Amino acid sequence: MVIVPAVTEFTFMSSSPAATHGLGRRVGERLWPGSIVTLAGELGCGKTVFARGVCAGLGVAERQVSSPSFVLVNEYAGRLPVFHLDMYRLDAEQGFDIGMLDYLARAGSGVMMIEWAEKILSLLPESRLDVQFQVLSARRRRIVLTGRGEKYTDLAKGLAEF
Ligand SMILES: Nc1ncnc2c1ncn2[C@@H]1O[C@H](COP(=O)(O)OP(=O)(O)OP(=O)(O)O)[C@@H](O)[C@H]1O
Ligand SMILES: [Mg+2]
Repeated sequence: MVIVPAVTEFTFMSSSPAATHGLGRRVGERLWPGSIVTLAGELGCGKTVFARGVCAGLGVAERQVSSPSFVLVNEYAGRLPVFHLDMYRLDAEQGFDIGMLDYLARAGSGVMMIEWAEKILSLLPESRLDVQFQVLSARRRRIVLTGRGEKYTDLAKGLAEF
């Protein structure tokens, strides 16, 4: 028997950085220990703006939050610990080498948020929230949130009903 994980998709049209941040905040308010959020899309599409919103929703002091492009990972203390990773400068094997799986295990008590996660998708659990950004114009973004697995489909449904 093949078990296909449930998938729910929610599309959000953002017309400002504040709207993207607000969506991130709503996601952050709903996350739980061990949750995984991937952020994908071209340079400057709004991944870090969204990540800051998630952090706000988790009660992280925002001055802590920066783009981890040059340091690979930042950790923040909020309602839950937040592990903010950026895979931009990495290939999957390097990711594995630096102990990605150990990291996944440690993140079990917190929230893991990964920019450029498409580079390491095969290393990630199938249950997660994937967030895909598309630039439509200078200020407009299409943001597709895909919940995979029961808890994340519930999360995506909750966002859609807001
Ligand atoms: N609707 C919008 N949502 C999010 N950001 C927007 C929006 N409109 C304009 N912007 C601008 O786009 C930029 C997004 O930058 P951000 O650092 O979040 O991108 P990123 O996807 O993390 O890029 P990188 O891949 O370089 O890390 C910011 O300068 C922000 O002000
Ligand atoms: Mg970024």
